[in-house]
Amino acid sequence: MKIVLVGANGTIGKKVHELLFAEGHEIVKVGKTSGDFQVDIADRESVRRLYAKIGAFDAVANASGEVAFAPFEKLGAAEWGLSLGSKLMGQVHLVQEALPYIREKGSFTLISGIVGDDPIFSGVAAAAVNRAIEGFVIAAANELPKGLRINVVSPTLLVESLKEFGPFFPGYTPVEGTQVAQAYKKSIFGNRTGQKYTLYP
Ligand SMILES: NC(=O)c1ccc[n+]([C@@H]2O[C@H](COP(=O)([O-])OP(=O)(O)OC[C@H]3O[C@@H](n4cnc5c(N)ncnc54)[C@H](OP(=O)(O)O)[C@@H]3O)[C@@H](O)[C@H]2O)c1
Repeated sequence: MKIVLVGANGTIGKKVHELLFAEGHEIVKVGKTSGDFQVDIADRESVRRLYAKIGAFDAVANASGEVAFAPFEKLGAAEWGLSLGSKLMGQVHLVQEALPYIREKGSFTLISGIVGDDPIFSGVAAAAVNRAIEGFVIAAANELPKGLRINVVSPTLLVESLKEFGPFFPGYTPVEGTQVAQAYKKSIFGNRTGQKYTLYP
């Protein structure tokens, strides 16, 4: 299977790549500055150009999308613009612009995260965007053409990100990146659509 992996060089993307590449799939690695192809998912035209270069494929798996973490009172237009433009609209762009290129019965796997269900300090924009993406997935699953499927993976904090983000998640039990990669695998190779695969109780 030919899989376009966006954010392939990131903490989650690397784990997804390891798992799927080891199983013999063709992985097209995409990043903002790294990988086989570069894209800014916040820019619809950039996403359109990306797919035109790649051509036909079977699945899009996304492990990218930026959000601003800031105290509520400091969440200004720039912070909201980044969060809505990148993690929300970026993922919408990845789905809508893929439609001419993705093969029948293909799939999309998007990313949200625990803070939409279990908020942290400074996580209001992240929570709003994560829930919005989950709503997008539930509704888009009913309207996608070509028998396409779409799911979203919602991890808690990864063990691999503890050093960087651990203090923001007091008392949260982290998950191994390899388990997050398994959720991507389930989404890509399973038969379900409109699902949210959570990696926390
Ligand atoms: N890590 C966690 O514990 C965790 C938990 C729950 C949810 N999440 C969510 O999972 C996603 C990935 O997290 P991560 O920790 O794996 O991130 P990460 O290590 O910072 O990696 C992000 C990846 O996305 C790419 N990227 C960033 N902005 C982009 C853009 N505008 N257009 C295209 N590619 C872009 C980067 O490309 P380059 O390498 O080329 O710069 C990089 O490969 C985020 O949305 C995050 O909120 C993460």
